[in-house]
Amino acid sequence: MLPPLQNDIFLRALQCQPVPYTPVWMMRQAGRYLPEYRATRAKAGSFLQLCQTPELACEVTLQPLARFPLDAAILFSDILTIPHAMGLGLQFETGEGPVIQRPVRTAAEVSKLGVPDPHHELRYVIDAVSLIRRELQGRVPLIGFAGSPWTVATYCVEGGSSRDFAKIKGMMYDTPSTLHALLTLLTQATIQYLNAQIAAGAQAVMVFDTWGSVLTPMHYREFSLSYMQQIVEGLTRAAAGRTVPRILFTKGAGSLLSEMSDLDCDALGVDWMTDLAQARQWVGDRKALQGNLDPCVLYAKPERIKSEVARVLASYGHGPGHVFNLGHGIHPTIPPEHAAAMIKAVHELSPQYHVSP
Ligand code: CP3
Repeated sequence: MLPPLQNDIFLRALQCQPVPYTPVWMMRQAGRYLPEYRATRAKAGSFLQLCQTPELACEVTLQPLARFPLDAAILFSDILTIPHAMGLGLQFETGEGPVIQRPVRTAAEVSKLGVPDPHHELRYVIDAVSLIRRELQGRVPLIGFAGSPWTVATYCVEGGSSRDFAKIKGMMYDTPSTLHALLTLLTQATIQYLNAQIAAGAQAVMVFDTWGSVLTPMHYREFSLSYMQQIVEGLTRAAAGRTVPRILFTKGAGSLLSEMSDLDCDALGVDWMTDLAQARQWVGDRKALQGNLDPCVLYAKPERIKSEVARVLASYGHGPGHVFNLGHGIHPTIPPEHAAAMIKAVHELSPQYHVSP
């Protein structure tokens, strides 16, 4: 038996329920800006080895929680575990980002792919989730995650990170049925993968659509949003007697947030390019919002960080439904004390925006 959850403020905020203060966590909170992360990664030998060793993935997941009073933990893994499990050959070259050794570019290549079994090829992730839940001992909720089918497909087709997305967008315009076949497969894989994370103990799930905004709005609907819709429709709604909230994050969504809010999710991630007050107008009170401090604010001194935190809190305004976060992942060169200053400021300044429940 796992101990009961001691701090469920994050889960309540995601469901727009009253909370005493605004909960906070950071995208990429376990990462290279922490010296203890770099030490564990060195011990693991590589980033992929770190992801594939549940004890070490658990260790780095908990590192930021040992330093900062965060209101949530996020599974340490990557969105590219699915293409890796599909046999596309994944490598992380230092300083170069991910490389897919066998990219998928033709209908014949797509037809050879299968949906990986989360309890077999992705077993190491599911084991990490169970272990993290055990080690967290109910301190804060654990977030599971996956990439959006579109975002994961960009890596599968481009063969790695891309500037112009020429190959996948060429495929989209030339042979859309091939791309739809790949996206359908990734969608099925993602539903099974996230449901396995939920069954193993993930208490909320987040879908990262980092590259949705490189599409025209029309193509975004067809090639990204509709697949995220299938994902949320396929997800387990509750586990261990509690709703498992879903967060969708399309970086650069802007006014598309309004269409995203039609989906059966609980919260939308907002990057720093959109004003939270504007986002709240687009979305209404239908969904919670998560964001959106510019990660570069953390290069400034703590006093400045505090005033920028105040600004983000004020732009969301009064009432429940705000989860504080960065607008994207924390940069590797941020001093950890600056992250601490941000979290402290959120906890100090946010109670005035909430009526005591
Ligand atoms: O937030 C967390 O603390 C959880 C861990 C997490 C990682 N990747 C660890 C990671 C999460 C949620 C991700 C998601 C992810 N991975 C996304 C979507 C979110 C986003 O940032 O937009 C994407 C696009 C990826 C793919 C990916 N993984 C890239 C492009 C890179 C290289 C770029 C970089 O930052 O180095 C990675 C590697 C990666 N994933 C690292 C970490 C901590 C750095 C690896 C290292 O230790 O060298």
